[in-house]
Amino acid sequence: DPKLQAIDLSKLQVQKTTTPKERLDNKDLVFGRTFTDHMLSLEWTASNGWMDPRITPYQNLSLDPATCVFHYAFEAFEGMKAYKDKQGNVRLFRPDMNMARLNRSVARIALPTFEGDKVIELIKKFCQLEERFIPSERGYSLYLRPNMIGTQRTLGVGPPGSALLYVIASPVGPYYPTGFKAISLEATKYAVRAWPGGVGNSKLGANYAPCIVPQMQAASRGFQQNLWLFEDVDAETGKVEDFVTEVGTMNLFAAIVNKEGQKELMTAPLDGTILEGVVRDSILQLARERLVPEGWKVSERRFHMRELAEAAREGRMLEVFGSGTAAVVSPVRSIQYNNELVSCGLTEDVEAGQITKRFKDWIEGIQYGDEAHPWSVKI
Ligand code: COI
Repeated sequence: DPKLQAIDLSKLQVQKTTTPKERLDNKDLVFGRTFTDHMLSLEWTASNGWMDPRITPYQNLSLDPATCVFHYAFEAFEGMKAYKDKQGNVRLFRPDMNMARLNRSVARIALPTFEGDKVIELIKKFCQLEERFIPSERGYSLYLRPNMIGTQRTLGVGPPGSALLYVIASPVGPYYPTGFKAISLEATKYAVRAWPGGVGNSKLGANYAPCIVPQMQAASRGFQQNLWLFEDVDAETGKVEDFVTEVGTMNLFAAIVNKEGQKELMTAPLDGTILEGVVRDSILQLARERLVPEGWKVSERRFHMRELAEAAREGRMLEVFGSGTAAVVSPVRSIQYNNELVSCGLTEDVEAGQITKRFKDWIEGIQYGDEAHPWSVKI
């Protein structure tokens, strides 16, 4: 019902804080630990739709212990960033993609959809108010976290009759505590993140909590992240293989020289087992525009660990990197798979390969407004 979706921008109420926070130096920022002065909130009820948007001081939520989000995980979120360009303008990167994805995620769990373009306008106002928190240094930005929860007070399992959409913001630098360095991955064999027909392609909080134990176990063995596999029959060979999906905090790309001798950049297809990353989509578009003319093949296709391991053994592995809003473009040094350490083409003294660096430069160049591009939306 469009009436239940509609948001009235003219009704925005802004209540400014009287106790502005200290703004940390960039070097002291830890991802997602400190927040700005304000938050943006919109409440929804099944009978009245979206109520007047509000920007208020950042504050606790007060919810009944029986609220459905706490029991049945009615929660979906987004990750997006505001950047400051050299002229001091604030920019968003493809915010329409985040709004469309949030609408798909919430629709999957019976939370209300909304007019994405209107929420982008509200986020712009929120960013203007929080401008002093937006770092201008490359690699630093204001991470925006839109979040929607079901707020109905009931233990009955059913569609929430009320919801809250809110946006908070955190000034951030690199996502991984190791900084802009290549990370090592451990391929997880004993747990599965997602499966076709499941919700692994929706940005639900419920997809993240179950990833932590395998992540901790990988960390206990010295790997920064774990890599999620999906075991399935290879349609071509009829053999069971461990297909590469994603990392949980980022999508994964591999650049190899394929069996035909062609350079190929590949990433898993949108088959329900990976999050539909905005940076993933951007890299694919840029690769098709800029690498294909250089002779590259660009593929959204299934590929498995045995293919990567073989490429590494035969000297055909070029580079592996992750992509995400938080992770941007993150080089990968190696993937531990069964008893084999699959080396991802970096010599010990090098933190990122040429292709990884080019994508990082292209993506950041657009995000920070150094390259004029329709993806970068000036506030
Ligand atoms: C993002 O990249 O924005 C994400 O949502 C990943 C998150 C786990 C930090």
